Amino acid sequence: MRRISNVLIPAFACAVFMTAALLAQNPGGSPEGKKMKNPVASNAESIKAGQAAFQKNCRFCHGADAKGNGPMAPEGTHPSNLTDDQWDRGSTDGEIFLVIRDGAGPKFDMKGYKSKMLETDIWNVVNYLRSVQAK
Ligand code: HEC
Repeated sequence: MRRISNVLIPAFACAVFMTAALLAQNPGGSPEGKKMKNPVASNAESIKAGQAAFQKNCRFCHGADAKGNGPMAPEGTHPSNLTDDQWDRGSTDGEIFLVIRDGAGPKFDMKGYKSKMLETDIWNVVNYLRSVQAK
């Protein structure tokens, strides 16, 4: 029994880890995100809802103005400036959506919001971030 679990447990842990890595939005973006279409029209209502969700969920890490390095960011992490044109994990709406939904891999300093936000709310946040983008 012991010998089997010595093999099985690491194999299982490895599979879990690899699945997490596949779901995560890693540096470089993803083909899946590039194909996604934002189903929520970017109008005043969506942007306002996105801003509210951002202030509630993201401000303490990314800052009230979304410029990064918020006051409560965990030590040693560097939450990105979300208003510049540098998107390490891909710049399309879909890729940004996946970062918010699944978290920022591979280290997951930022966890995914899958269980905390509705998909519509995540798209609202994407629309809000687009609206505060430096032109
Ligand atoms: C616990 C702190 C924390 C919270 C809360 C958090 N983030 Fe992040 N976020 C990070 C960190 C750290 C990174 C950068 C990860 C890296 O580069 O290793 C990041 C990266 C990102 C990126 C990728 C930026 C790029 O350049 O590709 C986006 C988009 C993002 N966050 C959006 C959000 C949104 C929207 C919310 C709220 C729904 C949120 N984050 C909540 C810490 C956080």
